[in-house]
Amino acid sequence: MSIFSPKRLKAVAVDIGTSSVKVLELDRRGSSYRVGQFAIERLPRNAVVERGITDVEAVSGAVRQAIKRSKCKRKPAIVAIASSHVVSRTVQLPVGLREAEIEEQVMIEASQHIPHPLEEVNLDYQVVDSSETDGSYLVKITACRKEIIEGYSLVIESAGLEAAVVDVDSFAVERGFAFVTAGMSDALRGKVIALIDFGEVTTRLDIFVDDVAIYDRDHSFGGRILTENIRTRYGISFEEAEAAKLSGDLPENYREDLLEPFKATMAREASRAVEFFVSAGRGYESVDMLFITGGCTRIEGIAEVVQMHTGLPTAVASPFSPSGIKASAILQRQSPLLLKACGLAVRGAG
Ligand SMILES: Nc1ncnc2c1ncn2[C@@H]1O[C@H](COP(=O)(O)OP(=O)(O)OP(=O)(O)O)[C@@H](O)[C@H]1O
Ligand SMILES: [Mg+2]
Repeated sequence: MSIFSPKRLKAVAVDIGTSSVKVLELDRRGSSYRVGQFAIERLPRNAVVERGITDVEAVSGAVRQAIKRSKCKRKPAIVAIASSHVVSRTVQLPVGLREAEIEEQVMIEASQHIPHPLEEVNLDYQVVDSSETDGSYLVKITACRKEIIEGYSLVIESAGLEAAVVDVDSFAVERGFAFVTAGMSDALRGKVIALIDFGEVTTRLDIFVDDVAIYDRDHSFGGRILTENIRTRYGISFEEAEAAKLSGDLPENYREDLLEPFKATMAREASRAVEFFVSAGRGYESVDMLFITGGCTRIEGIAEVVQMHTGLPTAVASPFSPSGIKASAILQRQSPLLLKACGLAVRGAG
């Protein structure tokens, strides 16, 4: 198993989030992509905590169920670990080294830069750029504690799949985001673009310039807050509150008392996350545009509320479009849930 995969792999993407598992297969036709199979399966509360798998049985059960419902046939799977569990370093190595020499240098660099004993980590590397002019390669070294990777492998294998690639979620988001902006590259050239993912417990900001991620940060905020508010307000269980939230089958006062205030809070969180980036001392005074994704952006009218509050042009990010990934109309409605899964699945599109 490796973090960086061989080319031309046919595999299913398995995105394990806090609230659900998403499985997705992409097919490559020439340079274009089309969604093959997909399914989303809910996870019980606390099966995934702080992006680590705490209940292997529950998560693998959900993966198995999702694979069954989606009718995915591929056995090799691609999963993503959270970038917060990963240490990455980019080092420069001289051009002209043989594979074995690069590996040797990577081990030497890793022993100096990775803050864990090497026998406790899974290590991988990728030559990300080679610049003949200054005589060096840029090599990205990625390391993760073995126990984190083992948790994911166990889930995948218990679900009857084969853990072919363990990716890092920030790489997957970056690849998924390239589909969102496909076809807009001229208009977005040189612009500072924010992507905010409003999930179940985490809101994550990624900043891109010319499709390259230059910053990412997790903030603890997500849709669970609204579910909890529904639960306490109407005296129902968490599961009932979640189901009611999705169906909209709630009393008249829900919209005004809970939903609209939650939308306003999402907008404030978006502002705060962007302000955090601006004050991080990267030399950027603002961002030019905001894309939003994640399950909470399925809430109607959210892009308008975020745009009004932040003052930034805002749109819901979709990887599905004629110039991105081709998908059915039904699937397009689920696009806020599937950005990361698309970024994973593209590595397994064959
Ligand atoms: N139609 C909808 N209306 C309101 N909220 C929704 C809707 N669909 C999904 N959500 C909410 O989106 C959240 C799940 O989003 P998502 O699947 O992106 O998160 P996750 O990946 O499981 O979690 P995290 O990223 O925090 O690990 C849940 O709180 C869910 O209730
Ligand atoms: Mg998520």
